[in-house]
Amino acid sequence: MRFGGHLAVDAVSFEAGPGTITGLIGPNGAGKTTLFNIITGLLEPTKGQVFFGGRTITRMKPFKRARLGIGRTFQRLELFTSLSVRDNIRVAGEIRNRWHKGRIDVHAEADRIMELIGVDHLADREVTEIPTGMARRVELGRALMTHPKLLLLDEPASGQDETETQEFGELLQRLAAEGTGILLVEHDVSLVMAVCEYIHVLDFGQIIAAGTPAEVRANPVVLDAYLGSGAPDDATAIAAALDAGIVVSETDLHVHIHEPRDSSDAVELREPLLELVDVRAGYGSIEVLHGVSLAVPQGAVVALLGPNGGGKSTTLKVCGGFVPLTGGELRIAGRVLTGVSPDTLARHGVCTIPEGKGIFPNLTVSENLRMATYTGTPLKDVEDIAYSRFPRLAERRGQLAGTMSGGEQQMLAMSRALGTDPAVLLLDELSMGLAPLIVTELYEVVAQVSELGVSILVVEQFARTVLGIADIAAIMLSGRITRVGRPDELEEELSSAYLGATT
Ligand SMILES: Nc1ncnc2c1ncn2[C@@H]1O[C@H](COP(=O)(O)OP(=O)(O)OP(=O)(O)O)[C@@H](O)[C@H]1O
Ligand SMILES: [Mg+2]
Repeated sequence: MRFGGHLAVDAVSFEAGPGTITGLIGPNGAGKTTLFNIITGLLEPTKGQVFFGGRTITRMKPFKRARLGIGRTFQRLELFTSLSVRDNIRVAGEIRNRWHKGRIDVHAEADRIMELIGVDHLADREVTEIPTGMARRVELGRALMTHPKLLLLDEPASGQDETETQEFGELLQRLAAEGTGILLVEHDVSLVMAVCEYIHVLDFGQIIAAGTPAEVRANPVVLDAYLGSGAPDDATAIAAALDAGIVVSETDLHVHIHEPRDSSDAVELREPLLELVDVRAGYGSIEVLHGVSLAVPQGAVVALLGPNGGGKSTTLKVCGGFVPLTGGELRIAGRVLTGVSPDTLARHGVCTIPEGKGIFPNLTVSENLRMATYTGTPLKDVEDIAYSRFPRLAERRGQLAGTMSGGEQQMLAMSRALGTDPAVLLLDELSMGLAPLIVTELYEVVAQVSELGVSILVVEQFARTVLGIADIAAIMLSGRITRVGRPDELEEELSSAYLGATT
């Protein structure tokens, strides 16, 4: 597949069998989503063929492929945003009934599938209101309504926490056992290693390795290009810890604690720049935060940790002004800014990188960066920051941001935020969609940024990585902060906070 001068997929051949989970992994921009688009017919390959059940489908329309039994989910969610969870799933059933004679009872089938994928408790919520991890399951549910023979899943676990991911892996194994062929693109290496029978590794549009999870994990080429071998607390360790089976062990959950970055410099004693005092907030009649107090000192990195559903993203949304407080106070640099709009908070230096979507898809890379100059930073400086940290962006400066790979878009979102010269950075799941090696690098960038005096509040599923750079960790359970301390003081609570959720 060629895009102008860029060869995104370079003579790739592989197979995915029925009743089997086949993994497709590789760095950001390797060509994984492009392959999905070729298989589903959203892109016509420049060269080569796609076969399904032995017959060529290379030029067949996407809807015909769906009718043949190819279902998919999208890396950047493509749900019907004005519909409820139930209706998103039902839509696919209605369509299926128009394709086939053997009609299904759409209502009953939607109920069955919602229970199967564990979203029945959200059935009547609008999909924009539910957490990303759950929205990904709804996409899976919609695909399942068509009873596909082959399921293509593009980063289905991103946004799901460890417990949810574990359940999700078990669900995929059950679907495969019932005969569905699954092609899995996922940066959560532990999931891929645990559920896939066979894995293909892509880099720069080529397959650089293939084999069983054990073979791929031991392959030096893969370590080098994708997993990274330098950082013992990251992907390599997770991969090494999970030998087989999906069960997440206690040692795997055990957080790798670094030395405090600078113990002589007691960051927690500094003046707080961002402060939440007894904050209450929620959605409609549902209260999610039940009196949260938290301080982010000047130049400190505070990691907000805990299982999903605890209110971490809501806390960040409150700080950015996106969810109103129903009680308590929000202060920035000592000033009470409760109830002000997101743009007022932005003017006070609060910068959000929202989960997943932080860019203008119809603008080019350099136009997106220009959007960061509203605070007065010259474009040249914004571009310098971006292109020196992420050389990939320099190569793509004229490309429409929406056509870049998921990880490339995340790099752009980060660059644009840094360009606004923020006082407070709110980071929600920075690792989402990023290859393990890049996640490690990106958190190095976060640490450097905090050393320049920026206060950072970060929510992250990969606790090990973020604790390596955090000054303070706070554990959040069911809408309350249960513990705050230095990462090395919290080791035990962190394990039990996550483990508690699994039992
Ligand atoms: N329409 C397009 N025009 C130009 N370049 C494109 C287009 N679509 C994709 N690309 C480029 O092709 C490469 C492969 O993109 P793809 O989305 O397949 O990557 P990926 O492996 O899914 O990465 P990620 O893990 O970050 O999602 C990227 O460098 C991307 O910028
Ligand atoms: Mg992708």
